Amino acid sequence: MGRMNGRVVWITGASSGIGKALALSCRRAGAHLVLSSRRAAELARVEASLPPSGDAGVLVLPLDVSDTSAAPDAVQKVLERFGRVDVLVNNAGVSQRSMAHETPLDVDRRIMEVNYFGPVALAKAVLPHMLFAGGGRIVVISSISGKFGYHLRSAYAASKHALHGFFESLRMELHDRGIRVTMVCPGRIRTDISLHALRADGTEHRRMDEGQLRGRSAEDCAERILKGILRDEEEVFFGGREMAALQIKRFLPGLFSRMMRNRGPD
Ligand SMILES: NC(=O)c1ccc[n+]([C@@H]2O[C@H](COP(=O)([O-])OP(=O)(O)OC[C@H]3O[C@@H](n4cnc5c(N)ncnc54)[C@H](OP(=O)(O)O)[C@@H]3O)[C@@H](O)[C@H]2O)c1
Repeated sequence: MGRMNGRVVWITGASSGIGKALALSCRRAGAHLVLSSRRAAELARVEASLPPSGDAGVLVLPLDVSDTSAAPDAVQKVLERFGRVDVLVNNAGVSQRSMAHETPLDVDRRIMEVNYFGPVALAKAVLPHMLFAGGGRIVVISSISGKFGYHLRSAYAASKHALHGFFESLRMELHDRGIRVTMVCPGRIRTDISLHALRADGTEHRRMDEGQLRGRSAEDCAERILKGILRDEEEVFFGGREMAALQIKRFLPGLFSRMMRNRGPD
């Protein structure tokens, strides 16, 4: 019996990086999976790469999370296949590599649509069904950038901060009705995130950044997220040395500010 046996776990951004690794971890733990992202062919590849797991089923459900009007239909498709959603993992995301003052507002909005309004819309569409079923869990993949701003990440950090405001409020409101929220704050993880990060002109950065290359593995990150779900943790932190910045900001905010300012972008 797997630790997630028979539970229905819906992962957005499942075609790559952390989402793909989490799909594998949840599959090994016996979960039914719903895999969403925009690239249907990549999702099919992820599905084909999963090991067999008893009766556990997989639904490939292509979805652009920034199209918030598509959320209710997507939820219906999951209900038709599995009858419920036990865990929604709002993982799909896009990063940024541009200075705040040089970035047009429409690029800020694009980042907010994917990273903030997408997760909010899916949560709003799923919650009535979770409440009817007596409970459920929403996992939100925020970032260390959800705790402090950083060079070239103004809209990205804003979108991740906004997730904390929304989902921490929701957690308080619905705790007594069986809804649990796990906020995940990874540091640097070795994925394609920097390749797809948006520049000021709205095109992709297309570079694997040094910081990404030196990051921890998506597989270890996924195992840590799964542990957080199973232990009912409200916040999960996972990363390398960069995580020390969280403590420095908390206890030595002046030093933190100088340190980060002088570091420059990377
Ligand atoms: N890597 C890190 O260092 C790091 C650190 C902190 C937090 N995070 C967060 O972790 C999450 C996963 O990122 P990752 O590092 O695994 O990067 P990744 O490998 O680039 O994966 C991003 C995923 O999001 C999907 N996606 C992007 N835009 C989408 C949209 N509009 N609709 C649906 N799916 C969309 C992509 O799939 P399609 O292209 O197929 O749509 C892909 O599956 C993100 O929320 C990111 O902010 C990453």
